[in-house]
Amino acid sequence: MNTNVRPESMERITTKALADKFINEQVKLVREQVGDKKVLLALSGGVDSSVVAALLIKAIGKQLVCVHVNHGLMRKGESEQVIEVFKNGLDANLIYVDATDRFLDLLKGVAEPEKKRKIIGGEFIKVFDEEAAKLDDIKFLAQGTIYPDILESDGVKAHHNVGGLPEDMEMELVEPVKLLYKDEVRVVGSALGLPDEMVYRQPFPGPGLGVRCLGAITRDRLHALREADAILREEFDNCGLAKTVWQYFIAVPDMKSVGVKNDKRYEGWPAIIRAVNTTDAMTATIEEIPYEVLHKITNRITNEVDGINRVLLDLTPKPIGTIEWE
Ligand code: XMP
Repeated sequence: MNTNVRPESMERITTKALADKFINEQVKLVREQVGDKKVLLALSGGVDSSVVAALLIKAIGKQLVCVHVNHGLMRKGESEQVIEVFKNGLDANLIYVDATDRFLDLLKGVAEPEKKRKIIGGEFIKVFDEEAAKLDDIKFLAQGTIYPDILESDGVKAHHNVGGLPEDMEMELVEPVKLLYKDEVRVVGSALGLPDEMVYRQPFPGPGLGVRCLGAITRDRLHALREADAILREEFDNCGLAKTVWQYFIAVPDMKSVGVKNDKRYEGWPAIIRAVNTTDAMTATIEEIPYEVLHKITNRITNEVDGINRVLLDLTPKPIGTIEWE
């Protein structure tokens, strides 16, 4: 039997009761599979790896070793949330690696998008590998593979997944949600008690803010991007758009324009708002953000974020624009 094919008889998980049933079955299966051995998991904080972590903590507790690599390109507060939810909340065996300097040093002066992605992906594997090498006796590697990853394993997501792991690691895989669709993974995550912000998190590219800090990344522009992005998210939360818009973020290009601040010439970067709706990310339409919300966001970003002196709105659907800028 091919365990990578979802049986037609498998019921869609849409309720807490169905999720609980699934969780109980998986807890049993995982315990059978791993016995008293240790399992390693790269925990990015995204929906899939978070749900797998919570499920495995329930099944095997401290036998699960989670490694969270902060590549310095996370959105504001995201690494902190991983620590809060898993270490403080679920008492997970969590190794937190702040590799910000390693990534940013390597990315210095690199403007070409594909090169940036390669550096980030390659370094991620290196850091993870180094952490894994410090641990004894790890026999299993858990992954947040979900069913669309299997269906699309013609390479689409492979290049997307920064968490792609070293091929020479000789570990058996533990993939408890590999037959689930995204919406089911979320139902399971909620049933496991994960917070809504985690379970309903927007898709976030593996290279993170690295593909939104356009061109060669500098620390000051990355900082400005992260702060502006946090304001956008906060204001979308406040007006309810956060619940309905599929993906929204800020991109900051590597260019400056002239402005005026406190009666002085003020050269700054523009913050570009992108807010799109889609079902499969293959095509996307633009969210029509009310002008009063746009004014508030503009006002806050230009006043609160050092280095930003204009706010622009990207009105381009996909196609012709991709969702990300790089
Ligand atoms: P594009 O920009 O191709 O994006 O229209 C489609 C969706 O994929 C996300 N995306 C990525 N996700 N690694 C990922 O894991 C990546 O390198 C990457 N690039 C784009 C993007 O955010 C959007 O949801």
